[in-house]
Amino acid sequence: MNPLRSLILAAAGNDVIRRAVAAAPVSRDVVRRFVAGESTAEAIGVTRRLVDSGLTVTLDYLGEDTTDEDLADQTVLAYLELLEALRAEGLAGRAEVSVKLTAVGQLLDERLALTNVSRICAAAQESGTTVTLDMEDHTTTDSTLRVLAELRGTWPTVGAVVQAYLRRTVEDCARLAGEGSRVRLCKGAYAEPGEVAYQDKHEVNLSYVRCLNVLLAGDGYPMFATHDPRLVPIVDARAAHHGRKPGSFEFQMLYGIRPDEQRRLAELGHTVRVYVPYGVRWYGYLMRRLAERPANTAFFLRALASR
Ligand code: FDA
Repeated sequence: MNPLRSLILAAAGNDVIRRAVAAAPVSRDVVRRFVAGESTAEAIGVTRRLVDSGLTVTLDYLGEDTTDEDLADQTVLAYLELLEALRAEGLAGRAEVSVKLTAVGQLLDERLALTNVSRICAAAQESGTTVTLDMEDHTTTDSTLRVLAELRGTWPTVGAVVQAYLRRTVEDCARLAGEGSRVRLCKGAYAEPGEVAYQDKHEVNLSYVRCLNVLLAGDGYPMFATHDPRLVPIVDARAAHHGRKPGSFEFQMLYGIRPDEQRRLAELGHTVRVYVPYGVRWYGYLMRRLAERPANTAFFLRALASR
C-alpha cells in the first residue's frame, strides 16, 4: 500500500491525532466539501438539492466504532429523526439511509447492533424507504453478513456492501446475487493486511471487474460505488453485455467527488445515488477520503495552514 495512504489511515484510528485535528480551526469549507453538515435540517437541504438535480441519495449519520451504549442509542435516534424528516419532506422515494453497524453497537455485542439496526429498518419501512449496511474493516465482515441475513428475513430490501479488495469478496458476491438482493460493490476503504486483502491497486481493480460480472449475471440489484474513470465505462459495457437496462442497476458516488460525472451519468438515464454523510463525528470519514487521493490531502493541509 502507498505509504502516504497507510499513514493517513493509521491517523484515522489514532485518538491523539483525532483530538488534535478536531480541535484545529479547520475551515468549514474543507469538511463541507465531503460532509453535508451537522444537523438533520442541513442533510435534508443537501438531499433536496441533489434530488432536484435528478440524483438519488443515501444518507449516513456519521459515527463508527462506538463502545458506548448511549451513543449507539443516540445514533439510532438520529436516524429515526432523519427518516421521519425524509417522509415529511416527500423525499423518501429518492433517498435511503446507510448504517455502520459499529455505530450502533456491533463492537459491544452483535445482538445489540441487530436490535438497534432493526429499529432503523422498521422506521425506514414506515417512511417508505430502505436501509443499506455499510461494510467496515474485515474483522466485522462475517458479523455484518450475519446481521444482514437476519434483517432480510423481515426486510428483504436491506442492502449489503462488499469490498473488492478483500480476497473473499467474489465468493460473497455469488452468495449475495440472488433475486431482489441489493448489493453495493466498492473497492474498500480500510487499511487491511495482505492475508485478507489485495494490496496492489491493479489487483483490486481486477477483483472489482470479477465481482461486477458476478453481480450483473445474477438476479439482484447491483449498486456500483466507484469514481474510477476506468471502471465506470466497464460497468456500462458489462451491464449491456448482461442485458441489463438502466434501472436494473445503479451507480453510486460520494458527496463532493466527481459531481459532474454524477450528473453526466444521470443525464444518460442511469440511476445515480450520492452517498451523503452528515453529523458531528466526521473525522474517520474525512481521513479515509484524504487517504484515497494525495491531492485531497494537499487541499486539506493548505486549508489548515491558511488559518
Ligand atoms: P480509487 O480510489 O482507485 O480512485 C479512482 C479515481 O477516482 C481517482 O483516480 C480519482 O479520479 C477519483 N477519485 C476517487 N476518490 C476520490 C476522492 N476522494 N477525491 C477526488 N477524486 C477521487 N468503502 C468501504 O470500505 N465500505 C463501504 O461501505 C463503502 N461505501 C461506499 C459507498 C459509496 C457510494 C462509495 C462511492 C464508496 C464507498 N466506499 C466504501 C469507499 C470505497 O471503498 C472507496 O474507498 C472509494 O470509493 C474510492 O474508490 P474508487 O472506486 O473511487 O477508486
